[in-house]
Amino acid sequence: MGVVGRRNKPAAAGVAVVALIAVVYLLPATTHAQLRVGFYDATCPNAEALVRQAVAAAFARDAGTAAGLIRLHFHDCFVRGCDASVLLTVNPGGGKTEREAAPNNPSLRGFDVIDAAKAAVESACPRTVSCADIVAFAARDSINLAGNLFYAVPAGRRDGRVSNETEALLNLPPPSFTAKELTDRFAAKNLTVEEMVVLSGAHTVGRSFCSSFLDRIWNGSSPIVDSGLSPSYATLLRGLCPWNATQAAPNVTVSMDPGSPDVLDNNYYRLLPRGMGLFFSDNQLRVDPAMAALVTGFAANETLWKTRFAEAMLKMGRIEVQTGRCGEVRRTCGLVNPTSSSFSVELPSVVMSAPDVVEEEGVAASY
Ligand code: HEM
Ligand SMILES: *[C@@H]1O[C@H](CO)[C@@H](O)[C@H](O)[C@H]1NC(C)=O
Ligand SMILES: *[C@@H]1O[C@H](CO)[C@@H](O)[C@H](O)[C@H]1NC(C)=O
Ligand SMILES: *[C@@H]1O[C@H](CO)[C@@H](O)[C@H](O)[C@H]1NC(C)=O
Ligand SMILES: *[C@@H]1O[C@H](CO)[C@@H](O)[C@H](O)[C@H]1NC(C)=O
Ligand SMILES: *[C@@H]1O[C@H](CO)[C@@H](O)[C@H](O)[C@H]1NC(C)=O
Repeated sequence: MGVVGRRNKPAAAGVAVVALIAVVYLLPATTHAQLRVGFYDATCPNAEALVRQAVAAAFARDAGTAAGLIRLHFHDCFVRGCDASVLLTVNPGGGKTEREAAPNNPSLRGFDVIDAAKAAVESACPRTVSCADIVAFAARDSINLAGNLFYAVPAGRRDGRVSNETEALLNLPPPSFTAKELTDRFAAKNLTVEEMVVLSGAHTVGRSFCSSFLDRIWNGSSPIVDSGLSPSYATLLRGLCPWNATQAAPNVTVSMDPGSPDVLDNNYYRLLPRGMGLFFSDNQLRVDPAMAALVTGFAANETLWKTRFAEAMLKMGRIEVQTGRCGEVRRTCGLVNPTSSSFSVELPSVVMSAPDVVEEEGVAASY
């Protein structure tokens, strides 16, 4: 901001204080704050260990936790950036939340684990660690527990104050998407085709409700086999999910990688050529030639996929993040902070002496 650099003659003391406060408050907002590994080293040194403890405890009870938390980070980052908007249970602006949107309800899980992690970090260091960072740490810890793969997570994300059902529908890719549509949704987040193929490998863990693939195996009450689906796999799926599963088996889920649903391996890429990609969208990755070549490469080399997966998760974790003084550090992950506290400005208790003061009339009015 050019105005801050303009230097005038020493002014009256009152103006100097106003100007200094303006400078103190403008600088962090105008500096492009970046995510940083070890962000909580000074302010909450145990933050990452506490999150990991909560994730490990939940994983020990139910290994499916890992899949839930990996997907939670994806669904957070694709809607309004990685700002924990997906966790909000109430939208202060009115209307339904992301969490209530069809891609998230009822399938998204892991909210209880995030709440437990948040409770632990709040009691160690109140109002310090954002829910968005907890979600990013928890996804990394899940990948570590399910895939023995580790990466350091740059932190400093701030939590958003808006959650909007429509935005979830507009940004999250449904399982009915074609290769082109998938590419466009990822491109909208600056993710490449390769990153899209790499991230889709997350479907090597976890489960799906019947509704996400029912139209690949049933046409009304008549059995069908979608092209790209192996007939024997379709038969197996029909046994689990009857044609009227939405009413008759609403709680039935199917493992996306039946052989090792809790292990983050490269099986996803080995299953695709066998007609065992569960979703129409999964199978699109072998229909598109450029994507199919990547699939073949990751099927042949798990180390290669894991390296790229960690890199792509890091890139996903930076989508449209709020940092510095933007957003807030939520006290409870399901609710935005009370408005009074988010708008109150605490003045610095000590004002440095100002020999050569910056003057800017009107600046104080912007705060
Ligand atoms: C390429 C586009 C994608 C589509 C169309 C898609 C679609 C889906 C669908 C429909 C489900 C099952 C939901 C249900 O239970 O009905 C699912 C589950 C899952 N997805 Fe994706 N997804 C995509 C990309 C991703 C990405 C990028 C990640 C993470 C990096 C991811 C991670 C997961 C995980 C881990 C599960 C299992 C969740 C659980 O077991 O709770 N997906 N996905
Ligand atoms: C939610 O987002 C949609 C699409 O951007 C917008 O039209 C709508 O007004 C928003 N709803 C609320 C309650 O803000
Ligand atoms: C994608 O990159 C462009 C250009 O750098 C940037 O303006 C845009 O905000 C980015 N979008 C996302 C979702 O990160
Ligand atoms: C679902 O379909 C089966 C077989 O067609 C039938 O016996 C059952 O009553 C149906 N259930 C519901 C809830 O519609
Ligand atoms: C499905 O799960 C919900 C929530 O746990 C439960 O209320 C409902 O009775 C279950 N439905 C069936 C058909 O099992
Ligand atoms: C697999 O990928 C890794 C990481 O890129 C590479 O170092 C290794 O040489 C590859 N292995 C094979 C057999 O191509």
